[in-house]
Amino acid sequence: MKYVVATARAPFSHERVEGNDVVRQNVGGVASSLRRLMLDREGTWVCWGDGALDSLHQEEKIDNYTVSRVIIGKHEKRGFYDDFSNGTLWPLFHYFREKIKTEDFSFDSYLSVNRKFAERIAKHVGNDTVIWVHDYQLSLVPGLLRRMLPEAFILMTWHIPWVAGEFFSILPQAKQILQSLASCNLITFHTDIFVRNFLETHEQMLGSSMAIKNRVAAIPLGIDNEYYSAQNPSDSRRRHNPQRKTIFSIDRLDYTKGLKNRVLAIESLLSTHPELRRKFNYVMLVTPSRTTVSDYVLMKRELEMNIGRVNGKFGDLEWAPIIYMYRKVSDNVLKNHYRFSEIAFITPLIDGLNLVAKEFAAASDDGILILSKFAGASADLRSAIIVNPYDVTDMAESLYIALNMGQEERKARLADLKAVVRRKNSSWWIAKIEKEIIKRGSGELNSPESKDN
Ligand code: G6P
Repeated sequence: MKYVVATARAPFSHERVEGNDVVRQNVGGVASSLRRLMLDREGTWVCWGDGALDSLHQEEKIDNYTVSRVIIGKHEKRGFYDDFSNGTLWPLFHYFREKIKTEDFSFDSYLSVNRKFAERIAKHVGNDTVIWVHDYQLSLVPGLLRRMLPEAFILMTWHIPWVAGEFFSILPQAKQILQSLASCNLITFHTDIFVRNFLETHEQMLGSSMAIKNRVAAIPLGIDNEYYSAQNPSDSRRRHNPQRKTIFSIDRLDYTKGLKNRVLAIESLLSTHPELRRKFNYVMLVTPSRTTVSDYVLMKRELEMNIGRVNGKFGDLEWAPIIYMYRKVSDNVLKNHYRFSEIAFITPLIDGLNLVAKEFAAASDDGILILSKFAGASADLRSAIIVNPYDVTDMAESLYIALNMGQEERKARLADLKAVVRRKNSSWWIAKIEKEIIKRGSGELNSPESKDN
Protein backbone atom coordinates (compact mmCIF):
# COMPACT_ATOMS: atom_id res chain seq x y z
CA MET A 1 0.00 0.00 0.00
CA LYS A 2 1.36 3.42 -0.96
CA TYR A 3 -0.08 6.77 0.03
CA VAL A 4 -0.71 10.13 -1.44
CA VAL A 5 -1.24 12.22 1.67
CA ALA A 6 -2.70 15.73 1.43
CA THR A 7 -2.58 18.37 4.18
CA ALA A 8 -2.84 22.14 3.97
CA ARG A 9 0.23 22.53 6.19
CA ALA A 10 3.53 21.24 4.83
CA PRO A 11 5.81 18.74 6.63
CA PHE A 12 8.80 20.92 5.72
CA SER A 13 9.08 24.40 4.26
CA HIS A 14 11.89 26.45 2.78
CA GLU A 15 12.33 29.81 4.44
CA ARG A 16 14.75 32.61 3.74
CA VAL A 17 16.79 33.35 6.88
CA GLU A 18 19.45 36.05 6.53
CA GLY A 19 19.60 35.45 2.79
CA ASN A 20 19.94 31.64 3.15
CA ASP A 21 17.54 28.84 2.22
CA VAL A 22 16.65 27.18 5.54
CA VAL A 23 14.43 24.08 5.81
CA ARG A 24 11.90 24.23 8.67
CA GLN A 25 10.14 21.14 9.99
CA ASN A 26 6.50 21.31 11.07
CA VAL A 27 6.50 19.98 14.64
CA GLY A 28 2.73 19.38 15.02
CA GLY A 29 1.42 15.97 16.09
CA VAL A 30 -0.36 15.21 12.80
CA ALA A 31 2.74 16.12 10.79
CA SER A 32 5.04 13.88 12.86
CA SER A 33 2.70 10.87 12.65
CA LEU A 34 2.34 11.28 8.91
CA ARG A 35 6.09 11.76 8.43
CA ARG A 36 6.69 8.37 10.04
CA LEU A 37 4.01 6.78 7.86
CA MET A 38 5.61 8.20 4.72
CA LEU A 39 9.06 6.97 5.76
CA ASP A 40 7.63 3.45 6.11
CA ARG A 41 5.30 3.35 3.15
CA GLU A 42 6.71 5.79 0.58
CA GLY A 43 4.51 7.82 -1.77
CA THR A 44 3.79 11.53 -2.06
CA TRP A 45 2.79 14.27 0.35
CA VAL A 46 0.84 17.06 -1.33
CA CYS A 47 0.75 20.28 0.70
CA TRP A 48 0.58 24.05 0.49
CA GLY A 49 3.97 25.57 -0.20
CA ASP A 50 3.68 28.72 1.89
CA GLY A 51 7.38 29.07 2.78
CA ALA A 52 9.13 32.10 1.25
CA LEU A 53 11.30 29.86 -0.97
CA ASP A 54 8.89 26.95 -1.49
CA SER A 55 8.16 27.89 -5.10
CA LEU A 56 11.77 26.91 -5.87
CA HIS A 57 11.11 23.42 -4.44
CA GLN A 58 7.72 22.40 -5.78
CA GLU A 59 8.62 18.71 -6.12
CA GLU A 60 11.22 17.48 -3.67
CA LYS A 61 12.38 14.01 -2.67
CA ILE A 62 12.74 13.74 1.11
CA ASP A 63 14.09 10.39 2.27
CA ASN A 64 11.95 7.87 0.40
CA TYR A 65 8.92 10.02 -0.33
CA THR A 66 8.14 13.07 -2.44
CA VAL A 67 6.86 16.38 -1.11
CA SER A 68 4.74 18.07 -3.75
CA ARG A 69 3.92 21.71 -2.95
CA VAL A 70 0.91 23.58 -4.28
CA ILE A 71 1.80 27.26 -4.69
CA ILE A 72 -0.99 29.80 -4.30
CA GLY A 73 -1.04 33.55 -4.84
CA LYS A 74 -1.62 36.25 -2.22
CA HIS A 75 -5.20 36.99 -3.17
CA GLU A 76 -6.07 33.30 -3.34
CA LYS A 77 -4.40 32.68 0.03
CA ARG A 78 -6.61 35.32 1.59
CA GLY A 79 -9.80 33.73 0.30
CA PHE A 80 -8.71 30.13 0.88
CA TYR A 81 -6.91 30.35 4.22
CA ASP A 82 -7.87 33.57 6.04
CA ASP A 83 -11.47 33.93 4.94
CA PHE A 84 -13.07 30.60 4.08
CA SER A 85 -10.99 28.04 6.02
CA ASN A 86 -10.44 30.14 9.13
CA GLY A 87 -13.08 32.88 8.89
CA THR A 88 -15.97 30.56 7.93
CA LEU A 89 -15.32 26.84 8.43
CA TRP A 90 -13.27 27.09 11.63
CA PRO A 91 -15.91 29.06 13.61
CA LEU A 92 -18.69 26.97 12.04
CA PHE A 93 -17.20 23.69 13.18
CA HIS A 94 -16.53 25.09 16.66
CA TYR A 95 -20.05 26.49 17.20
CA PHE A 96 -19.02 30.18 17.06
CA ARG A 97 -22.08 31.35 15.19
CA GLU A 98 -21.41 35.09 15.41
CA LYS A 99 -17.93 34.71 13.90
CA ILE A 100 -18.98 32.80 10.77
CA LYS A 101 -18.34 34.87 7.65
CA THR A 102 -20.22 34.00 4.51
CA GLU A 103 -18.82 36.21 1.73
CA ASP A 104 -19.11 34.45 -1.61
CA PHE A 105 -15.78 35.53 -3.05
CA SER A 106 -13.79 33.58 -0.46
CA PHE A 107 -15.53 30.35 -1.41
CA ASP A 108 -14.35 30.80 -5.01
CA SER A 109 -10.73 30.90 -3.84
CA TYR A 110 -11.33 27.95 -1.53
CA LEU A 111 -12.77 25.92 -4.39
CA SER A 112 -9.97 26.84 -6.75
CA VAL A 113 -7.25 25.91 -4.22
CA ASN A 114 -9.05 22.62 -3.47
CA ARG A 115 -9.08 21.98 -7.22
CA LYS A 116 -5.34 22.61 -7.44
CA PHE A 117 -4.81 20.08 -4.66
CA ALA A 118 -7.05 17.51 -6.36
CA GLU A 119 -5.24 17.92 -9.68
CA ARG A 120 -1.85 17.58 -8.04
CA ILE A 121 -2.94 14.49 -6.08
CA ALA A 122 -4.34 12.86 -9.24
CA LYS A 123 -0.91 13.21 -10.90
CA HIS A 124 0.71 11.12 -8.19
CA VAL A 125 -1.83 8.32 -7.87
CA GLY A 126 -0.71 4.84 -8.93
CA ASN A 127 -2.40 1.44 -8.92
CA ASP A 128 -2.53 0.52 -5.26
CA THR A 129 -2.45 4.06 -3.88
CA VAL A 130 -4.58 5.18 -0.97
CA ILE A 131 -5.37 8.90 -1.10
CA TRP A 132 -5.44 10.30 2.41
CA VAL A 133 -6.84 13.84 2.69
CA HIS A 134 -6.76 15.76 5.98
CA ASP A 135 -9.02 18.35 7.56
CA TYR A 136 -11.41 21.18 6.82
CA GLN A 137 -9.10 23.21 4.58
CA LEU A 138 -9.43 20.46 1.94
CA SER A 139 -13.07 19.41 2.32
CA LEU A 140 -13.88 19.64 -1.40
CA VAL A 141 -10.87 17.61 -2.53
CA PRO A 142 -12.55 14.16 -2.22
CA GLY A 143 -15.52 15.16 -4.41
CA LEU A 144 -13.28 16.76 -7.05
CA LEU A 145 -11.02 13.71 -7.07
CA ARG A 146 -13.91 11.28 -7.29
CA ARG A 147 -14.88 12.82 -10.62
CA MET A 148 -11.33 12.46 -11.92
CA LEU A 149 -10.64 9.00 -10.43
CA PRO A 150 -13.89 7.04 -9.95
CA GLU A 151 -12.00 3.93 -8.78
CA ALA A 152 -9.62 5.54 -6.30
CA PHE A 153 -9.63 4.74 -2.58
CA ILE A 154 -10.14 8.07 -0.84
CA LEU A 155 -9.78 8.45 2.90
CA MET A 156 -10.54 11.67 4.78
CA THR A 157 -9.48 12.35 8.37
CA TRP A 158 -11.40 15.21 9.93
CA HIS A 159 -9.33 16.62 12.80
CA ILE A 160 -11.76 19.22 14.12
CA PRO A 161 -15.23 18.68 15.62
CA TRP A 162 -18.24 17.86 13.47
CA VAL A 163 -21.21 19.92 14.66
CA ALA A 164 -24.92 19.09 14.84
CA GLY A 165 -26.60 18.91 11.41
CA GLU A 166 -28.83 21.92 11.97
CA PHE A 167 -25.86 24.08 12.84
CA PHE A 168 -23.81 22.84 9.88
CA SER A 169 -26.67 23.74 7.55
CA ILE A 170 -26.11 27.47 8.32
CA LEU A 171 -23.35 27.28 5.73
CA PRO A 172 -24.57 28.16 2.21
CA GLN A 173 -22.15 25.57 0.76
CA ALA A 174 -23.06 22.88 3.32
CA LYS A 175 -24.48 20.40 0.81
CA GLN A 176 -21.51 20.71 -1.51
CA ILE A 177 -19.09 19.95 1.30
CA LEU A 178 -21.16 17.07 2.61
CA GLN A 179 -21.48 15.51 -0.83
CA SER A 180 -17.75 15.74 -1.30
CA LEU A 181 -17.10 13.96 2.00
CA ALA A 182 -19.77 11.37 1.27
CA SER A 183 -17.81 10.36 -1.81
CA CYS A 184 -14.95 9.06 0.38
CA ASN A 185 -14.43 5.34 0.93
CA LEU A 186 -13.65 6.05 4.56
CA ILE A 187 -13.91 9.09 6.86
CA THR A 188 -12.37 9.11 10.30
CA PHE A 189 -13.04 11.47 13.21
CA HIS A 190 -11.46 11.57 16.66
CA THR A 191 -14.57 10.81 18.73
CA ASP A 192 -17.89 8.94 18.62
CA ILE A 193 -19.79 12.21 19.12
CA PHE A 194 -18.37 13.67 15.89
CA VAL A 195 -19.24 10.44 14.04
CA ARG A 196 -22.81 10.63 15.37
CA ASN A 197 -23.12 14.30 14.37
CA PHE A 198 -21.79 13.56 10.91
CA LEU A 199 -24.21 10.67 10.35
CA GLU A 200 -27.13 12.76 11.58
CA THR A 201 -26.09 15.59 9.27
CA HIS A 202 -25.93 13.15 6.39
CA GLU A 203 -29.34 11.77 7.25
CA GLN A 204 -30.89 15.26 7.43
CA MET A 205 -29.34 16.58 4.23
CA LEU A 206 -28.72 13.57 1.97
CA GLY A 207 -30.79 10.79 3.51
CA SER A 208 -29.78 7.78 5.55
CA SER A 209 -28.03 4.70 4.20
CA MET A 210 -26.07 1.72 5.48
CA ALA A 211 -23.29 2.54 3.03
CA ILE A 212 -22.42 5.83 4.70
CA LYS A 213 -22.59 4.26 8.18
CA ASN A 214 -20.08 1.64 7.09
CA ARG A 215 -17.68 4.23 5.86
CA VAL A 216 -17.32 6.33 9.03
CA ALA A 217 -15.18 5.52 12.08
CA ALA A 218 -13.94 7.17 15.29
CA ILE A 219 -10.18 6.62 15.62
CA PRO A 220 -8.45 9.16 17.89
CA LEU A 221 -4.98 10.31 16.93
CA GLY A 222 -2.24 9.31 19.37
CA ILE A 223 1.20 10.74 20.07
CA ASP A 224 4.74 9.41 19.78
CA ASN A 225 4.76 8.18 23.36
CA GLU A 226 8.44 7.21 23.42
CA TYR A 227 9.48 10.65 22.28
CA TYR A 228 7.47 12.45 24.95
CA SER A 229 8.26 10.06 27.78
CA ALA A 230 12.04 10.05 27.10
CA GLN A 231 14.07 12.47 29.16
CA ASN A 232 15.72 15.34 27.30
CA PRO A 233 19.49 14.86 26.98
CA SER A 234 19.92 18.49 28.07
CA ASP A 235 17.51 18.02 30.90
CA SER A 236 19.37 19.20 33.96
CA ARG A 237 16.78 21.76 35.10
CA ARG A 238 14.85 21.22 38.27
CA ARG A 239 11.33 22.32 38.97
CA HIS A 240 10.59 25.97 38.21
CA ASN A 241 10.59 26.90 41.88
CA PRO A 242 10.30 24.30 44.66
CA GLN A 243 8.42 26.77 46.90
CA ARG A 244 5.70 27.29 44.31
CA LYS A 245 3.66 24.88 42.27
CA THR A 246 3.44 25.43 38.56
CA ILE A 247 0.21 25.31 36.61
CA PHE A 248 1.02 25.11 32.91
CA SER A 249 -0.71 25.44 29.58
CA ILE A 250 0.30 25.81 25.95
CA ASP A 251 -2.11 26.70 23.16
CA ARG A 252 -2.27 28.43 19.84
CA LEU A 253 -3.83 31.87 20.36
CA ASP A 254 -7.35 30.86 19.36
CA TYR A 255 -10.80 31.83 20.65
CA THR A 256 -11.72 28.13 20.85
CA LYS A 257 -9.10 27.49 23.52
CA GLY A 258 -10.92 29.17 26.41
CA LEU A 259 -7.88 31.24 27.43
CA LYS A 260 -9.79 34.13 28.98
CA ASN A 261 -11.88 31.79 31.14
CA ARG A 262 -8.67 30.31 32.54
CA VAL A 263 -7.51 33.76 33.59
CA LEU A 264 -10.92 34.31 35.21
CA ALA A 265 -10.57 30.95 36.98
CA ILE A 266 -7.24 32.07 38.46
CA GLU A 267 -8.94 35.27 39.61
CA SER A 268 -11.77 33.31 41.19
CA LEU A 269 -9.33 30.89 42.87
CA LEU A 270 -7.36 33.73 44.47
CA SER A 271 -10.52 35.54 45.54
CA THR A 272 -11.95 32.51 47.34
CA HIS A 273 -8.60 31.17 48.59
CA PRO A 274 -6.38 34.19 49.35
CA GLU A 275 -4.03 31.87 51.27
CA LEU A 276 -2.87 30.59 47.87
CA ARG A 277 -1.13 33.89 47.03
CA ARG A 278 2.53 33.20 46.17
CA LYS A 279 1.88 29.46 46.38
CA PHE A 280 1.72 28.90 42.61
CA ASN A 281 2.43 30.38 39.21
CA TYR A 282 0.29 29.84 36.17
CA VAL A 283 2.71 29.63 33.23
CA MET A 284 0.54 30.42 30.23
CA LEU A 285 2.38 29.82 27.01
CA VAL A 286 0.54 31.05 23.93
CA THR A 287 1.84 30.61 20.41
CA PRO A 288 1.02 33.07 17.62
CA SER A 289 -1.54 31.72 15.17
CA ARG A 290 -3.50 32.97 12.12
CA THR A 291 -2.28 36.50 12.75
CA THR A 292 -3.80 37.72 9.47
CA VAL A 293 -7.35 36.79 10.58
CA SER A 294 -9.10 39.71 12.34
CA ASP A 295 -10.79 37.71 15.15
CA TYR A 296 -7.41 36.45 16.27
CA VAL A 297 -5.94 39.94 16.51
CA LEU A 298 -8.87 41.19 18.59
CA MET A 299 -8.83 38.34 21.06
CA LYS A 300 -5.12 38.83 21.82
CA ARG A 301 -5.83 42.32 23.10
CA GLU A 302 -8.71 41.14 25.27
CA LEU A 303 -6.70 38.27 26.74
CA GLU A 304 -3.73 40.46 27.57
CA MET A 305 -5.95 43.05 29.24
CA ASN A 306 -7.41 40.36 31.49
CA ILE A 307 -4.01 38.93 32.39
CA GLY A 308 -2.78 42.44 33.25
CA ARG A 309 -5.87 43.07 35.37
CA VAL A 310 -5.54 39.83 37.37
CA ASN A 311 -1.78 40.26 37.87
CA GLY A 312 -2.37 43.85 38.91
CA LYS A 313 -5.03 42.79 41.41
CA PHE A 314 -3.12 40.01 43.16
CA GLY A 315 0.57 40.43 42.29
CA ASP A 316 3.27 42.22 44.27
CA LEU A 317 6.96 43.04 43.88
CA GLU A 318 7.97 39.39 44.20
CA TRP A 319 5.12 37.51 42.61
CA ALA A 320 2.60 37.59 39.78
CA PRO A 321 0.04 34.79 39.53
CA ILE A 322 0.21 34.54 35.73
CA ILE A 323 3.45 34.30 33.77
CA TYR A 324 2.30 34.94 30.22
CA MET A 325 4.53 34.24 27.22
CA TYR A 326 3.48 34.88 23.63
CA ARG A 327 5.96 33.08 21.39
CA LYS A 328 6.90 29.77 19.83
CA VAL A 329 9.01 27.40 21.92
CA SER A 330 11.28 24.54 20.94
CA ASP A 331 10.19 20.96 21.57
CA ASN A 332 12.84 20.52 24.25
CA VAL A 333 11.67 23.57 26.17
CA LEU A 334 8.09 22.31 25.91
CA LYS A 335 9.05 18.87 27.20
CA ASN A 336 10.72 20.50 30.20
CA HIS A 337 7.55 22.44 30.97
CA TYR A 338 5.53 19.23 30.76
CA ARG A 339 7.90 17.38 33.03
CA PHE A 340 8.30 19.96 35.72
CA SER A 341 4.80 21.42 35.99
CA GLU A 342 2.61 20.03 38.74
CA ILE A 343 -0.62 20.78 36.89
CA ALA A 344 -1.56 21.06 33.22
CA PHE A 345 -4.58 23.29 32.72
CA ILE A 346 -6.03 22.35 29.31
CA THR A 347 -9.52 23.75 29.00
CA PRO A 348 -10.59 24.47 25.42
CA LEU A 349 -14.22 25.52 24.90
CA ILE A 350 -14.27 22.87 22.19
CA ASP A 351 -11.47 20.96 20.48
CA GLY A 352 -11.34 18.14 17.92
CA LEU A 353 -8.86 16.25 20.09
CA ASN A 354 -6.05 18.17 21.87
CA LEU A 355 -2.70 16.45 21.73
CA VAL A 356 -1.19 18.68 24.44
CA ALA A 357 -3.18 16.73 27.04
CA LYS A 358 -1.68 13.45 25.80
CA GLU A 359 1.83 14.87 25.53
CA PHE A 360 1.67 16.14 29.12
CA ALA A 361 0.47 12.74 30.39
CA ALA A 362 3.37 11.01 28.61
CA ALA A 363 6.05 13.47 29.73
CA SER A 364 5.00 14.27 33.28
CA ASP A 365 6.68 12.62 36.29
CA ASP A 366 3.98 13.24 38.80
CA GLY A 367 1.57 15.81 37.41
CA ILE A 368 -2.19 16.30 37.38
CA LEU A 369 -4.15 16.95 34.22
CA ILE A 370 -7.15 19.28 34.33
CA LEU A 371 -8.99 18.79 31.07
CA SER A 372 -12.08 20.27 29.43
CA LYS A 373 -14.99 17.91 28.88
CA PHE A 374 -15.28 19.45 25.41
CA ALA A 375 -11.80 18.38 24.29
CA GLY A 376 -12.00 15.25 22.12
CA ALA A 377 -9.16 13.73 24.19
CA SER A 378 -11.38 13.67 27.29
CA ALA A 379 -13.21 10.63 25.86
CA ASP A 380 -10.07 8.57 26.55
CA LEU A 381 -8.37 10.49 29.35
CA ARG A 382 -10.96 9.72 32.01
CA SER A 383 -8.51 9.94 34.91
CA ALA A 384 -7.93 13.63 34.34
CA ILE A 385 -9.91 16.11 36.43
CA ILE A 386 -12.62 16.85 33.89
CA VAL A 387 -14.08 20.37 33.94
CA ASN A 388 -16.66 22.50 32.20
CA PRO A 389 -14.60 25.30 30.59
CA TYR A 390 -17.58 27.68 30.64
CA ASP A 391 -17.90 27.32 34.41
CA VAL A 392 -15.20 29.52 35.91
CA THR A 393 -16.08 28.51 39.49
CA ASP A 394 -15.85 24.81 38.62
CA MET A 395 -12.42 25.39 37.07
CA ALA A 396 -11.22 27.37 40.10
CA GLU A 397 -12.42 24.60 42.42
CA SER A 398 -10.63 21.98 40.28
CA LEU A 399 -7.43 23.98 40.51
CA TYR A 400 -7.84 24.06 44.28
CA ILE A 401 -8.38 20.29 44.39
CA ALA A 402 -5.36 19.72 42.13
CA LEU A 403 -3.10 22.00 44.19
CA ASN A 404 -4.02 20.03 47.31
CA MET A 405 -4.19 16.49 45.91
CA GLY A 406 -2.27 13.81 47.83
CA GLN A 407 0.55 11.88 46.22
CA GLU A 408 -1.26 8.55 46.10
CA GLU A 409 -4.21 9.87 44.11
CA ARG A 410 -1.92 11.88 41.83
CA LYS A 411 0.15 8.84 41.04
CA ALA A 412 -2.85 6.59 40.42
CA ARG A 413 -4.48 9.10 38.08
CA LEU A 414 -1.29 9.71 36.14
CA ALA A 415 -0.57 5.97 35.82
CA ASP A 416 -4.03 5.51 34.25
CA LEU A 417 -3.49 8.38 31.82
CA LYS A 418 -0.06 7.09 30.85
CA ALA A 419 -1.44 3.61 30.17
CA VAL A 420 -4.05 4.98 27.73
CA VAL A 421 -1.60 7.28 25.97
CA ARG A 422 0.98 4.47 25.66
CA ARG A 423 -1.54 2.02 24.24
CA LYS A 424 -3.34 4.39 21.88
CA ASN A 425 -0.17 5.96 20.49
CA SER A 426 0.47 7.23 16.98
CA SER A 427 1.44 3.75 15.65
CA TRP A 428 -1.85 2.39 17.05
CA TRP A 429 -3.69 5.18 15.18
CA ILE A 430 -2.06 4.33 11.86
CA ALA A 431 -2.55 0.57 12.41
CA LYS A 432 -6.26 1.05 13.21
CA ILE A 433 -6.78 3.18 10.12
CA GLU A 434 -4.93 0.70 7.90
CA LYS A 435 -7.09 -2.09 9.31
CA GLU A 436 -10.19 -0.12 8.31
CA ILE A 437 -8.75 0.42 4.82
CA ILE A 438 -7.98 -3.28 4.41
CA LYS A 439 -11.43 -4.22 5.75
CA ARG A 440 -12.94 -2.25 2.89
CA GLY A 441 -10.51 -4.18 0.65
CA SER A 442 -8.77 -3.32 -2.59
CA GLY A 443 -11.48 -5.26 -4.48
CA GLU A 444 -13.94 -2.69 -3.22
CA LEU A 445 -12.00 0.34 -4.37
CA ASN A 446 -14.74 1.45 -6.69
CA SER A 447 -16.95 4.47 -6.25
CA PRO A 448 -18.81 4.34 -2.93
CA GLU A 449 -21.68 6.34 -4.44
CA SER A 450 -22.63 3.37 -6.65
CA LYS A 451 -22.94 1.20 -3.52
CA ASP A 452 -25.20 3.71 -1.85
CA ASN A 453 -28.13 3.02 -4.13
C1 G6P B 1 -5.75 22.66 13.96
C2 G6P B 1 -6.24 22.11 12.64
C3 G6P B 1 -5.09 21.87 11.67
C4 G6P B 1 -4.25 23.13 11.55
C5 G6P B 1 -3.74 23.53 12.94
C6 G6P B 1 -2.87 24.79 12.93
O1 G6P B 1 -5.11 21.70 14.69
O2 G6P B 1 -6.98 20.92 12.85
O3 G6P B 1 -5.59 21.50 10.40
O4 G6P B 1 -3.17 22.92 10.66
O5 G6P B 1 -4.86 23.77 13.76
O6 G6P B 1 -3.51 25.84 12.29
P1 G6P B 1 -2.91 26.56 11.02
O7 G6P B 1 -3.94 27.52 10.56
O8 G6P B 1 -1.65 27.22 11.52
O9 G6P B 1 -2.57 25.52 9.99
